Amino acid sequence: MHNLIVTIDGPAGVGKSTMAKRLARELGIPYLDTGAMFRSIAWKLGEGAWEWDESRIEAALAEFDYTLSGIGEESILSLNGTPIGDEIRTEQVGMWASNVATLPVVRSFLKTAQQSLGARFSLVAEGRDMGTVIFPDAPNKFFLDASVEERANRRCHQLERLGKPADLEELKEQIAKRDHQDRNRAVAPLKAADDATTIDTTELSKDQVFEALVAGVKAS
Ligand code: DC
Repeated sequence: MHNLIVTIDGPAGVGKSTMAKRLARELGIPYLDTGAMFRSIAWKLGEGAWEWDESRIEAALAEFDYTLSGIGEESILSLNGTPIGDEIRTEQVGMWASNVATLPVVRSFLKTAQQSLGARFSLVAEGRDMGTVIFPDAPNKFFLDASVEERANRRCHQLERLGKPADLEELKEQIAKRDHQDRNRAVAPLKAADDATTIDTTELSKDQVFEALVAGVKAS
């Protein structure tokens, strides 16, 4: 039997992770946060790694092994046996992740890792290129969008809940910059798959977005 793959793509701070976790719980399957994979690479290799020689990056990535366990909100993505923690959840690491995500060597490494997780598990997979590049045959594809103001607001609240410093204006600028880079890179840029359902969440509550996702999955 084929695994069920639901893809959720969209720009930074749109609420993909929240929705992916909840939808995964509803469906009784794991969720895969692919942004966390890019973030963990950026975090482990450190600032400026995106300027290293390709062979040096490739050698470093050969030591990276991702595993997934659990279901819904309890899904745990681990790197070399250690669960990826909140240390990657800053806007600075987000920007580093966006920088390493422009590199074909990193994208191709993670493509293999993500597709092999999709071969083992049914997944709600969220990121930037899940519906376009990683799981092009997925039967359920969603693209979540929202204004940059609304997304900066949401990210601000999320950081506050984690007890991390947050400045709304600065976040707005950082998110707009990261979006620009993610949408305009040469390899696997952020965009909706032709067969994705786009949901503009700017004016919607979390429950409304969730209901739209569940209705979309049931309809397919
Ligand atoms: O979803 P996030 O904010 O955690 O993602 C961090 C960065 O990683 C994002 O700005 C671009 C990159 N990314 C990507 O290029 N492709 C993905 N599938 C997921 C994330």
